[in-house]
Amino acid sequence: MRPALDRIRVRAPGRVNLIGDHTDYTGGLALPLAIDREVVVDGIDQERPEVTLTSDQDPEPASFSLPVCSLDPIGPVWARRVAAIAAEMGRVRGFSGSVTSTVPIGAGLSSSGALGVGIALALGAGDSLTRLEIALLCQRAQEAATGVPAGVLDEMASLHGLAGHAILLDCHDMTTEAVPLPVGAQIVVRYVSHRTVASSPYSERVAACHEAETRIGPLRSASVEDVATIDDPILRKRARHVVSENQRVRDCAIALRAGDMEEAGTLMTASHISLRDDYEVSTPELDVAVESLNDTPGVHGARLTGAGFGGCVIALAEPGAVGEGWVVEAVDGAEMAGGAIEL
Ligand code: GLA
Repeated sequence: MRPALDRIRVRAPGRVNLIGDHTDYTGGLALPLAIDREVVVDGIDQERPEVTLTSDQDPEPASFSLPVCSLDPIGPVWARRVAAIAAEMGRVRGFSGSVTSTVPIGAGLSSSGALGVGIALALGAGDSLTRLEIALLCQRAQEAATGVPAGVLDEMASLHGLAGHAILLDCHDMTTEAVPLPVGAQIVVRYVSHRTVASSPYSERVAACHEAETRIGPLRSASVEDVATIDDPILRKRARHVVSENQRVRDCAIALRAGDMEEAGTLMTASHISLRDDYEVSTPELDVAVESLNDTPGVHGARLTGAGFGGCVIALAEPGAVGEGWVVEAVDGAEMAGGAIEL
């Protein structure tokens, strides 16, 4: 364990998911990148068993005693996420400091995933756990804090990012492979609308996938022929999205490795259509944004990113092709100040 009273500074990036949404919670594939928008946790260990943190995103601080026995009395929402991490870690030593963030909240870029990872590292998770173990701990904490049975995509992206690369993530065997982004590939994010996953039908989609799996077995290994045997039309559509999306992720990784941006973009747009029509997590505003990006010369493809129901769309484009939006860079995963944590 590190000595008490050390000054601690952690950065944890948000993520853009290039392709592979709503696949992680059935052990599927995704291709995210950690982006140059990040949460920074800056603080110091305290002997007094309390966590006290300010946030530049919320006037209300996170302030609670350790050990955390129940999350119920803890608020606001961000403080509950912090407390859930402390609870998962069984943390008893106090911590005080600040959280600052450049990841827009409610935009589908994993502001809360980055917060969880930043807090876990600041509280010392890296002293004894691997990056994978930290991601799983943060995922459990996220579910405890929000009640949403989300997958592990966001935490894995924040922890395993690599500059200049997307990360091919297999949520069954929990392996990651770095996929270089082609030179001249620009990823542009356009903000569309605010949403929260907790108030969305996300959990319903998770339940539908599990229901489909009781009919045809694990979706990660199901074929389109298996999917066609599901008699319930809604479950069939949900399963068809997952099975086809896993294949698009595989194909997109191959296309990017070959520097074929045209093909990668076509797959991204096909992913959006599947999320819109089969998974029904898009919105008219997201669809309009994707269409307008796809009508822009130099754009290879566009799609919503993350859970949907609002948030952002992304485009894979030639440099400078998209005027409105912000260009994101793929960066390294979360680290303590002064260099990468040894995990
Ligand atoms: C949210 C969840 C992730 C993942 C995406 C959709 O970001 O936190 O686990 O399911 O939605 O791909």
